[in-house]
Amino acid sequence: MDKKSLRFRKGLDEMPSYDGVERDYRIKVNANESTMNLPPLVEERVMNRLYFVAFNRYPNEEYYSLVEQIAGNFSVRDEQIILGNGSSEIIEKVFHTFGGEGNKVVFPVPSFSMYKIYAKAAESQAVPFELDKKFDVDVEKFIRTVKESQATLAVICNPNNPTGNALTVDALEKIASSIDCAFLIDEAYVEFYGHSAFKLVAKYPNVIVARTFSKAYGMAGARVGYAIANADVARMVGKSFMPYHMNTLSLAAADIVYQMRDEFTPRIQMTVAERKRMIERLKKIPALEVFPSQTNFILIRHEKAEALKNYLESVDIGVRYFSPTAQGLKNCLRISIGVRTENDEVFKVISDWLNQS
Ligand SMILES: Cc1ncc(COP(=O)(O)O)c(C=O)c1O
Repeated sequence: MDKKSLRFRKGLDEMPSYDGVERDYRIKVNANESTMNLPPLVEERVMNRLYFVAFNRYPNEEYYSLVEQIAGNFSVRDEQIILGNGSSEIIEKVFHTFGGEGNKVVFPVPSFSMYKIYAKAAESQAVPFELDKKFDVDVEKFIRTVKESQATLAVICNPNNPTGNALTVDALEKIASSIDCAFLIDEAYVEFYGHSAFKLVAKYPNVIVARTFSKAYGMAGARVGYAIANADVARMVGKSFMPYHMNTLSLAAADIVYQMRDEFTPRIQMTVAERKRMIERLKKIPALEVFPSQTNFILIRHEKAEALKNYLESVDIGVRYFSPTAQGLKNCLRISIGVRTENDEVFKVISDWLNQS
């Protein structure tokens, strides 16, 4: 059979792809992961737990154990918790649940680049909401945009990736109370900010808060995320998932990690302190524009950002460079926070290169 005669789904060819490039760098600060694996004590407990995994059974007990723990921590009902393969899967399903032909989804730009892909996959119409020059959300304008477009879903990433800044919970509440469509708050980096909007779920049935184990809990490889939502909303979003969509290994590991989440507090504090130290140092370089951050990464701008990224790559340091077509991110680089020695080296390489060029 001739390959050319295969009839792929309409629109698939035009579907944008995620533009991140993955490679193993010596210093890998391009994907906002934790540069450290699990704390040794947690790793030991996870490994001991995995020893007892029933590979022959579909995941059940592990799923509900994690749901119960998360629900207990947020003082919500089990039915209000959605688990997913990373928060990615949940966000994609939320877009699906409130999407479809004729439905509109408002999300900020620049923000997490997957939103536009999820909108397209859900066959919804994307309504990009432009952030201002400082990457702040004009809350009144955002509310107006959601209302005037008659959107079925509004999204805020808080703190925002890749810009690093955050809205206050009061500002999020203002949005939640003013719009009458679903409101997804993507809190992938919230542990580095410290102000979650999860309490809004009890007050506003349209609010869905998505969180992940991939960043603060260093589990990007296990692919585990969760969301807190109104029980009816969670039930509807749940319809979009396949049965047994989570695997037992990741669920069992996440269950232990969640039990031991206090072990991660020093790391989160270290990342926040290192972020502050890096921002202060980078700000002393006049040629760099350094944006404030409430996350585990820093966004910087330099007129030769691409050359700087290439130089960093040549010494095996991976940072995130944004293509010139990425709206609002011209000449920007995003650098995740690593451990102190990694940050020191990244800083030295950047400042040496800038001094020479
Ligand atoms: C803003 C934001 N949301 C969601 C995700 C998805 O993370 P995961 O699927 O690993 O939970 C990411 C990952 O980088 C992100 O930056």
